[in-house]
Amino acid sequence: MMMQTRLLRRTVLPTVRYPLARTLATTAPGHVRLLQAITDDHREIEAFYDQYLKNGGNTDAQQRWANQLTWEIARHSISEELVVYPLLEKVMADQGHVLAESDRDDHQFVKDRLKKLESIEVGTTAYNAILKDIMDHLKEHMRKEETEQFPQLEAKLGEDQSISTARSFERTKAFVPTRYASSIHNRRRHIHPP
Ligand SMILES: [Fe+2]
Ligand SMILES: [Fe+2]
Repeated sequence: MMMQTRLLRRTVLPTVRYPLARTLATTAPGHVRLLQAITDDHREIEAFYDQYLKNGGNTDAQQRWANQLTWEIARHSISEELVVYPLLEKVMADQGHVLAESDRDDHQFVKDRLKKLESIEVGTTAYNAILKDIMDHLKEHMRKEETEQFPQLEAKLGEDQSISTARSFERTKAFVPTRYASSIHNRRRHIHPP
């Protein structure tokens, strides 16, 4: 029930433009384990894409949801790369290194395509096709993280380390420079987080 409440709060809030950076920085629950924090983010990314799809025909709304989506993907990816993948390599040694490298490749696939989206008008067939390609790739990547890699990592972490890593993951997300994330947005329609 607690998890559902947390998810609901996180997926409802983004109806206001970009509240997440401030919200997470001030109200992130302090006892969430790493796997849960990552999984919540993944559901949020999917929820933003669903909103993008539901708003087909409304270019302004689609632009806002596309911005939310790319902003969240950027923050989530950077925080995983800085906090979680190094831990995977440290705790799971060679196997962890192979998994982390594969994860970094997946992130690069997504970043390359997000970059392409910068020069394409939101809502067009070309934009939608690339965004679908990104989400299809991410869906499989997130499934691997949630059901294979991070459960193995969790099994090797004690509860305290899992919780402290989750805190560090959320803190890192909150401090990702907005300028970095906005650089992967559509530059012709700047809508920056406050
Ligand atoms: Fe990832
Ligand atoms: Fe992830």
